[in-house]
Amino acid sequence: MQIVTTIEELRSIVKWWRGEGHSVGLVPTMGYLHEGHKSLIVKAVSENDRVVVSDFVNPTQFGANEDLSTYPRDMERDAALCEAAGADVIFHPSPEEMYLEDNCTFVDMNRLTKGLCGKTRPTHFSGVCTVVFKLFNIVTPDRAYFGQKDAQQLAVIRRMVRDMNFNVRIVGCPIVREADGLAMSSRNAYLNEKERKAALILHKSLVLGEEMLRAGERDAGKVRDVILKNMRTEPLARIDYVELVDAKNLEPVKKIEGPILAATAVYIGKTRLIDNFHYDSE
Ligand code: PAJ
Repeated sequence: MQIVTTIEELRSIVKWWRGEGHSVGLVPTMGYLHEGHKSLIVKAVSENDRVVVSDFVNPTQFGANEDLSTYPRDMERDAALCEAAGADVIFHPSPEEMYLEDNCTFVDMNRLTKGLCGKTRPTHFSGVCTVVFKLFNIVTPDRAYFGQKDAQQLAVIRRMVRDMNFNVRIVGCPIVREADGLAMSSRNAYLNEKERKAALILHKSLVLGEEMLRAGERDAGKVRDVILKNMRTEPLARIDYVELVDAKNLEPVKKIEGPILAATAVYIGKTRLIDNFHYDSE
């Protein structure tokens, strides 16, 4: 496995692979990799001849008061995990390599990005779309892998690919959880012991909502209320949102008819955590 830091070198490697007739998979990440990331890489390795994992803490998707400078990093451990998962290349560029000093072009999306996480993070998805757009142009992958953990991100990327005619298949992968149900996240590293316990409230509350839906409840407001009420029992939790939305266009729903996404973001101490589940009544 190779660690590549320049766009030029990565392009020439991909060109060589293409000459050999190989298919190429891409797994975009911000590093500090865990089993959730690994599941994406393993899937990519099983479906493509060659796999690139990008490992880049993308500055443009962080707001001014967010955790860009403290975001956890460990390149050595990331390289070992990628190697074990069977990746061929880690792309680990510097911020200056990805964004020239006078860069002034960004990808913007008018729908899907305003609600849910977009409310508290108004510039976040523009940064995500911009960096993923660039990665698609650099790697030109046949397939790219994203986790359902970031359900809004996955919907946004699917829409960008459709709208901008990218010739890439987006593969969504299930949420990987700790044994007690907490969704794995690089940001879990911020939690102290008390907060780590409190963080379980996200999954526990969502499960209550899911059980209601399975039992036949079709009133989205009632399901949301139960999730919210349970969430509020945790004193360390500060709720950003709990929403039930249409799984495709992410518009809020009142009645559960087709596929929906139930999503939440909650601050545990200073750490903002997200979790969700999909449900289809059909
Ligand atoms: P990052 O948070 O590092 O996540 C990289 C990919 O791993 C995303 O597709 C995310 O959904 C997936 N992932 C994270 N935790 C997961 C879990 N517990 N189970 C399954 N998949 C999981 O998301 C980003 O980075 C960035 O926004 C990025 C797309 C790389 C653009 O900078």
